[in-house]
Amino acid sequence: MAAPRLGLPHLGLGVGLRPQHYQHILEHGPQVDWFEIISENFIDNHGYGRHVLETVAAQVPIVMHGVSLSIGSSDPLDLVYLRKLRQLADELQPAWVSDHLCWTGVACVNSHDLLPLPLDEASLRHVAARVRQVQDFLGRPLVLENPSTYVEFASSSMPEWEFLGRLATETGCGLLLDVNNVHVSAHNHGYDAVHYIRQLPHRHIVQLHLAGPTDCGEVLIDTHDAPVPAAVWRLYALAQRLTGGVSALLEWDANIPPYPQLLAELAKARAAERGEFGDDVPAVARGAVSSPLSFHLGDIHA
Ligand SMILES: [Fe+2]
Repeated sequence: MAAPRLGLPHLGLGVGLRPQHYQHILEHGPQVDWFEIISENFIDNHGYGRHVLETVAAQVPIVMHGVSLSIGSSDPLDLVYLRKLRQLADELQPAWVSDHLCWTGVACVNSHDLLPLPLDEASLRHVAARVRQVQDFLGRPLVLENPSTYVEFASSSMPEWEFLGRLATETGCGLLLDVNNVHVSAHNHGYDAVHYIRQLPHRHIVQLHLAGPTDCGEVLIDTHDAPVPAAVWRLYALAQRLTGGVSALLEWDANIPPYPQLLAELAKARAAERGEFGDDVPAVARGAVSSPLSFHLGDIHA
């Protein structure tokens, strides 16, 4: 097992904790090494979901994964949200807290989407300063995920891997490498996914994400609604080899299968690490775009 990165442990293989599986998990136990939660689904929520979360948190580690930090926005950091996030972290004591390299809104308007940044020196200075602010506020390292993107800024002056790498080394933040997002963005923008993963500072990668995208022909869309394609399993195996082994998590947020089927998909990670990637079937176009949120983000600001 690899040494802890940034003082953060290697948790093994996990899945996202979703309401569709609550009953099964309560009856049969977690059957995974750890769970990732969508932080916003548990902020100001002390209902049944919180009961399930506290039950499983007594059995396996929890990681908090957020979608509304908006670290790249030109709006000031949302201190109301950050206080709620810190409170949830204080209560749950997650292994770490993560979000995305993106912005979600501006002028106090929330787009409810993870939008790409211009990748230039000014953005890097802006985001690095905000990462330091968030880390100071939360009292723990922040872990940031590479987004899936469909457009790029003409003004960008560096590749995403360079931006993430410099951000991590300058701020000490961790990286959540979503190999499916690399696959999706590489397809959409015509760059080399393997080169992207090779260029990252691997000592800063503390977690991997796995998911299946939707193939819309010219573009892949990050829908989390299908099995992991062979191309993504290959990137996963590469990332595990280059990092020396880190925590990994399967995301599945639409057309969610029964829990045993989810576990069967997760188990393929072991085969992938042995170099077995399954059949290279293309993802099926489904039309719908998924969201892991169980309510609108605006609700938590009300
Ligand atoms: Fe992800």
